[in-house]
Amino acid sequence: MATSSASALSFTETLSLLSLSLASFAVIANTFQGDGAPLVASLAFSGLAFASSYSMIRWLGPTFMKAGLKGKDMSKVNKKEIPETMGAVCAVVYLLIITVFIPFPFYKDIVAATSGGGNRDVVLETIEHVQNGRFLHKFPHNKLASYLSAILTVQSISILGIGDDLFDIRWRHKFFIPGIASIPLLIVYFVDFGVTHIVVPIPLRPYLGELLQLGPLYYLYMFAIAIFCPNSINILAGINGIEVSQSLVIACLLVINDCYYLLNPYPHPATDSHLFSLYMLLPFIGVSLALWWHNWYPSRVFVGDTYCYFAGMVFAVVGILGHFSKTLLLLFIPQIFNFIYSAPQLFRIVECPRHRLPRFNARTNLMEPSVTEWVSPPKPVIVIFLKVLHQLHLLRVTTNEKGIITESTNFTLLNLWLVWFGPKREDRLAIEILAMQTVVGLFGLFVRHNFALLLFEKDNLKGIL
Ligand code: UD1
Ligand code: MG
Repeated sequence: MATSSASALSFTETLSLLSLSLASFAVIANTFQGDGAPLVASLAFSGLAFASSYSMIRWLGPTFMKAGLKGKDMSKVNKKEIPETMGAVCAVVYLLIITVFIPFPFYKDIVAATSGGGNRDVVLETIEHVQNGRFLHKFPHNKLASYLSAILTVQSISILGIGDDLFDIRWRHKFFIPGIASIPLLIVYFVDFGVTHIVVPIPLRPYLGELLQLGPLYYLYMFAIAIFCPNSINILAGINGIEVSQSLVIACLLVINDCYYLLNPYPHPATDSHLFSLYMLLPFIGVSLALWWHNWYPSRVFVGDTYCYFAGMVFAVVGILGHFSKTLLLLFIPQIFNFIYSAPQLFRIVECPRHRLPRFNARTNLMEPSVTEWVSPPKPVIVIFLKVLHQLHLLRVTTNEKGIITESTNFTLLNLWLVWFGPKREDRLAIEILAMQTVVGLFGLFVRHNFALLLFEKDNLKGIL
């Protein structure tokens, strides 16, 4: 990986990006018809998304710095300032690509709906009604509504994310922002799908029945997912590359899950949902890879809260509109753990400093757990709580000679990892966390596809598990 901080692209980079862009354009121009055409087009658009994000991140870095969008890399000897909010570039490129892509999955429907019977073969494939001897094609407005609401939601969260990067909104205020952005999704879910019951696991059926109707609670659950996904990525952060890498791991695992359905020898009822998911995820992987290249250790740019919100919301969108929100949560296990573990600081039971990222030791060049100092001794109940966690190896507490707690490590997965396995170089810490996330995610998918049948009898065809 090049480490130069120059904003200009090298000759090799320019040549590679240009070739990728031209190849992508060529594929897109020749890909309208045929069953797999939208998927091929989506792949080509993702190549284009990568090439444009890569060059724009490089070109716009100095402009962002000039506009004050910069941050200090706290875990380096010379705490140099680098461009921040680069996720905004990814979000904008992503939104443009997804918008331009919309006609591709609807090509057949558009032709059928506008040909007036001229293109009979296409019409025959998509017949909905026959009236007075004429074939009338019904355009899938519900599918289009999914795309449009997804774009609207991702757009809203990106604007709110940029606002946060500009004005550094307080945590307790910005926590609920993604909920507002998710409203278009919930409306489309309500109008088009509307399933608000869950299948009850076999052992609980004597008490609850086969299906449990959750009604409005189900919307509350999806609202909570939309709040959780963006925020959970934003708080598993603070070391070079971790925000974008964890998002790439989740996206790739979701793609594996989608392929599992699409490569089924028999057409699966959830095929459309998983195609929608792929169309949303492939360009996301494209823009994220471009950002990853610049954000991995040693970072040349920071992603900003915009990226964390944008990434989390893309996952919430595919999970909710693809009807597999429970599977999605299986891929968020490390983030769920980090969120629950962070709760004492998030809810101010324990003091929460502005930054909880691991502490850089300039002497050893290694990351160590960061701590919160107790200026005045904690209340007795907190003392018991901290000491129990210390005994369970879930925290490290330092006491003075009188046995009074003077400091405790910050409640984040990254700090806990360092408590368990000792100080590490920044990139090593990131690699280990990502490896753990990948193993846990693959295990989650394995369990989902192999053991769900044992608990629920029938497969989760409509995503209602
Ligand atoms: C969240 C975390 C905070 C953590 C911060 C790091 C909570 C409640 N908040 O806050 O504890 O410190 O993310 O991103 O858990 N930075 C680095 N190296 C990196 C990434 C970021 O030094 O690899 C620093 C830079 O100074 C950068 C700043 O973190 O400017 C970004 O912090 P920001 O994203 O604004 O913090 P929050 O999301 O509010
Ligand atoms: Mg952040």
